[in-house]
Amino acid sequence: MKRNIMEYETVELDDERSCLVIIDQTLLPATTKLVELRTAQEIWDAIYLLKVRGAPAIGVTAAFGIYLLAKQIDTEDYDFFYREFVKEKNFLNSARPTAVNLSWALERMEGVCKANREKGVKEIKEELKKEAVAIKEEDIWVCRTIGEYGLSLLKPGDGILTHCNAGQLATSKYGTATAPIYLGQEKGYGFRVFADETRPLLQGARLTAYELYASGVDVTLICDNMSAMVMKNGWVNAVFVGCDRVAANGDTANKIGTSLVAVAAKQYHIPFYVCAPTSTIDLDTKTGADIQIEQRPEEEVTQMWYEERMAPKGVKVYNPAFDVTDNELITAIITEYGIAKAPFETAFQEIFQKKEEKGNR
Ligand code: MRU
Repeated sequence: MKRNIMEYETVELDDERSCLVIIDQTLLPATTKLVELRTAQEIWDAIYLLKVRGAPAIGVTAAFGIYLLAKQIDTEDYDFFYREFVKEKNFLNSARPTAVNLSWALERMEGVCKANREKGVKEIKEELKKEAVAIKEEDIWVCRTIGEYGLSLLKPGDGILTHCNAGQLATSKYGTATAPIYLGQEKGYGFRVFADETRPLLQGARLTAYELYASGVDVTLICDNMSAMVMKNGWVNAVFVGCDRVAANGDTANKIGTSLVAVAAKQYHIPFYVCAPTSTIDLDTKTGADIQIEQRPEEEVTQMWYEERMAPKGVKVYNPAFDVTDNELITAIITEYGIAKAPFETAFQEIFQKKEEKGNR
């Protein structure tokens, strides 16, 4: 019998067989294929090609990936080990630029090498494994907690609109923007969800609609250009989206099209919530203007998903993978340490202070 997509792990470590196991998300929903990743190139490709995607899942993949690559560095000499580690780390880090979770996870892993330098390479490898496992476990707790805070902003029967996939497939469990939906589902809240299809790579149609539908949630798929109408019709009480990098002033990079949803939500007085693990908040990036936006191949717009090319050959194509939603369009940013409201600089200080008090990284 076909297993429900929600029963799969998005990213799993098979340490005995020295590989990472992911679901190839480019094939969903038609085909559920598990893929094993072993080499740096395989891991890099899986991230770049969006076989594994979504900011938290990319972070977990990078953490397990760098552990596996570190395990293969055959030396007892720390300096040599560290140099090789940094080479592999920099390579993985170059796979995608916008989601800060990639560099965040790799920095955490590098910190483990430095902190355990005196213990020797063998012990460092063990510590790296523990850290990668901790990053994945934390992700589950973070998503669930974001879900609880998010749910406190909703009431039974609400209509919710979401863009892209900030769902379980983008994380280790629950998702971020979908976490309030799943927790509400457990309580019988009966939400009605609208999933934007999310051009050009259709994460909303192929992934969000798929996982919500598989979970028994009342989900309706709409094209990206229908969200304003759905809002005007009064069918949406709140918008919940994920994020790839939040700047210190609250400007938020998320999947291309998110800012358009935020503009429409403002027009129709609908609260616009960004669900953000603190690992996605980058205080070193001052504003959205400082966020590097990934540009992707033009074929994703002209050809992919179509039986034949749908644009004249040679026409110019602009294909940014993300856009930045200005902070003034965001009602609140929901983190695992509470709900941040403008002014976001101050709110983030409090959030990160709470995190520090708990001794979490
Ligand atoms: O290009 P993708 O599919 O990696 O983009 C994903 C998103 O934009 C998500 O909304 C974001 O990473 C948050 S996932 C919890």
